[in-house]
Amino acid sequence: MYNIKPNFAKPCCPFIKWVGGKRGLLTQILPLFPSEFENYHEPFLGGGAVFFELYSRGLLEDKNIFLSDINDELINAYLHVKENPTKLISELKKYKQNHSKDFYYHTRSLDREVNFKKTPPIKRAARFIYLNKTCFNGLYRVNAKGYFNVPMGSYKNPNIADEEAIYRASEALQNATIKCQSFTDVLNDATSGDFVYFDPPYYPLTPTANFTSYNQDGFLEAEQIKLFEVFKELSDRGCKVAQSNSDTEFIKELYKAFDINIVMMNRFINSNKYGRGKVKETLIKNYDFV
Ligand SMILES: C[S@@+](CC[C@H](N)C(=O)[O-])C[C@H]1O[C@@H](n2cnc3c(N)ncnc32)[C@H](O)[C@@H]1O
Repeated sequence: MYNIKPNFAKPCCPFIKWVGGKRGLLTQILPLFPSEFENYHEPFLGGGAVFFELYSRGLLEDKNIFLSDINDELINAYLHVKENPTKLISELKKYKQNHSKDFYYHTRSLDREVNFKKTPPIKRAARFIYLNKTCFNGLYRVNAKGYFNVPMGSYKNPNIADEEAIYRASEALQNATIKCQSFTDVLNDATSGDFVYFDPPYYPLTPTANFTSYNQDGFLEAEQIKLFEVFKELSDRGCKVAQSNSDTEFIKELYKAFDINIVMMNRFINSNKYGRGKVKETLIKNYDFV
């Protein structure tokens, strides 16, 4: 197994792009995190911006770390970054050499083949990272059949085999238990004194037909309510719990018994002619800031 001593002077950060990534919010949400806690849990891991930042600041030293997400291709990639970075990088170098429009669409189409799930997991991990680095905006989207369907992005020189990022991430992950599971399973591991940070798919700012019927993450109103129940149960257990979500009446009403903080995020907004703007979001927590 790859193992070198952590080098906190050189921070590590996500090895993939991820929609809803928290990099732009770190300076606002980290001061709202508890100064002391036992173990760390992040059940909506995505690109892991928060985990990698906490690790880089040395705040997870000597702690048990539990990272999870429901996306099995994502978790498979994390497991190989952790266990097998050298082999993964050598696979990615092959992708880098072969990268072209035809190669992208050929690689994208592989999950349509019946034996795709029998592909060696390391090769699936490399395919996942390659598609993430070369697709439009690093988006992860599958169609109703579960096939990846994001078009190719227009990058001049995508960093497909980012050795430094992968080795650093690997180092950061050595102490982590990484699982593909639903957020509800955090209840199996979290105990009093632990810190749990939730970053779910957000409740939408405006009600859309999409939301009430189907949305990409399948994270509907019922899941937001289930998440509230999990948040409350962890709180009753004596865990420190924080959650990012949208600044909406639904969320504020649901969590009214907790401490709701407003943070400002730079987001892409279609209705703004400049394409970007600041959007209010919430950071909800069950503990006092000291
Ligand atoms: C907003 S993203 C997290 C972004 C992450 N904090 C970052 O900085 O990149 C939400 C994540 O929740 C995951 N997810 C969606 N539904 C889930 C569920 N029921 N249980 C666990 N994870 C889920 C998605 O796969 C996605 O990675």
